[in-house]
Amino acid sequence: MKKRWNFLLLVCVSLALLCYKYINSWEAHATAEDSHLTDNYIILFDKVQQEAANQRQENPPAAFEIPQILHQTFASEMVYENYRPMISSCLKLNPNWTYYLWRDSDARALISKKYPQYLKTYLSFKYNLQHSDAIRYVILHRFGGIYLDMDVECVKPFGPSLTRQAAFIDQERLELTRIIHDANFSAMNSLMGSVPGHPFFRSMMHKVLAKRLPGTSIVSTGPMVLTKVYKKYKDSRPARSWPVRLLPPSVASPLMDWQTNWTSVCHGAKPLGRKKHLWLDRGCRMLKWKNWSMDDSDNSTVAVHRFLHLGYDHMRKRRKPLFNVTETFKPRVRYYS
Ligand SMILES: *[C@@H]1O[C@H](CO)[C@@H](O)[C@H](O)[C@H]1NC(C)=O
Ligand SMILES: *[C@@H]1O[C@H](CO)[C@@H](O)[C@H](O)[C@H]1NC(C)=O
Ligand SMILES: *[C@@H]1O[C@H](CO)[C@@H](O)[C@H](O)[C@H]1NC(C)=O
Ligand SMILES: *[C@@H]1O[C@H](CO)[C@@H](O)[C@H](O)[C@H]1NC(C)=O
Ligand SMILES: *[C@@H]1O[C@H](CO)[C@@H](O)[C@H](O)[C@H]1NC(C)=O
Ligand SMILES: *[C@@H]1O[C@H](CO)[C@@H](O)[C@H](O)[C@H]1NC(C)=O
Repeated sequence: MKKRWNFLLLVCVSLALLCYKYINSWEAHATAEDSHLTDNYIILFDKVQQEAANQRQENPPAAFEIPQILHQTFASEMVYENYRPMISSCLKLNPNWTYYLWRDSDARALISKKYPQYLKTYLSFKYNLQHSDAIRYVILHRFGGIYLDMDVECVKPFGPSLTRQAAFIDQERLELTRIIHDANFSAMNSLMGSVPGHPFFRSMMHKVLAKRLPGTSIVSTGPMVLTKVYKKYKDSRPARSWPVRLLPPSVASPLMDWQTNWTSVCHGAKPLGRKKHLWLDRGCRMLKWKNWSMDDSDNSTVAVHRFLHLGYDHMRKRRKPLFNVTETFKPRVRYYS
């Protein structure tokens, strides 16, 4: 009898030792400079978040349906040829959607007619991109629908995965965000959708148009202020009945920006140890873990943001001649004014 108890005790002690050893060795791994466990943990962490987001997508609240209106903006109806295949892909895949092109004149007309209180700020913007950023929040708040940058190519119809919800905003690849923006996530305004009258877009509109914020377009009207307002909004009371979904990057931004040489940027990245590491180090580790894959497209991908950057002056050389959108996509194109 005693022997048996001894034996059991021995088993227990061994098990405890084994556990301790396992935990210890895990720690040792985590401490090791070149730890794969730490990497996998970061990937896993992001995976879990994405899965949670995907599940929400599969069971959207039946009460919301984003109207079938596609909005784009450009200075006029004459648009760079570079964008033709992208506009074409989105119109073809969404044949029943109404298409609005917002020229500068339409944008100004909408603001002066319906939001005269914002006109002064709108006209005071220094950069074209600020006008283009600001008007998209106004349009989505007023009419609802989906806003799309011109360098976004569609690969699947928007509905029902994007339309059966109150609102959504795009999100950049996590590696890109970490390396470039030194943050764990960054919302993007290259693809956004909403039902009309959504309080999130009212907040966005107010934030960027009530008074001119300092800084470049990225900071004052674009992704950075969008991310900031989203962070604040998502835990607020209105968000309970009017949610905004942050899309997993694979849905609309599966690519790394081709303009940056990521191997070169990551050259100086530090290996991950247990000490505090920079977001850049994490982003680079994630990229390495993915074998430097620049394309995360999968079967959840609805659109692909291609980062053409043609709006920037230094990309002027890449702009192809202009074509007439109204003429080319007759009779789909509509205008506000
Ligand atoms: C477009 O609308 C027509 C007529 O209402 C319908 O038969 C068709 O299935 C719709 N197509 C898509 C892709 O929703
Ligand atoms: C980013 O970090 C914040 C707080 O540290 C956390 O609440 C949020 O879920 C994180 N988001 C992502 C996409 O990792
Ligand atoms: C990117 O940078 C790496 C290292 O700096 C270099 O070897 C490689 O040729 C560069 N790639 C391109 C496409 O420029
Ligand atoms: C990266 O490449 C290695 C070797 O080809 C492969 O075993 C591994 O599964 C790849 N990792 C990913 C995330 O694709
Ligand atoms: C998408 O791919 C995942 C695996 O990568 C699979 O589990 C899932 O069933 C696929 N979904 C569809 C709709 O094909
Ligand atoms: C573009 O095409 C439309 C329809 O054919 C035409 O009415 C309009 O004048 C054209 N715009 C320019 C700037 O050529």
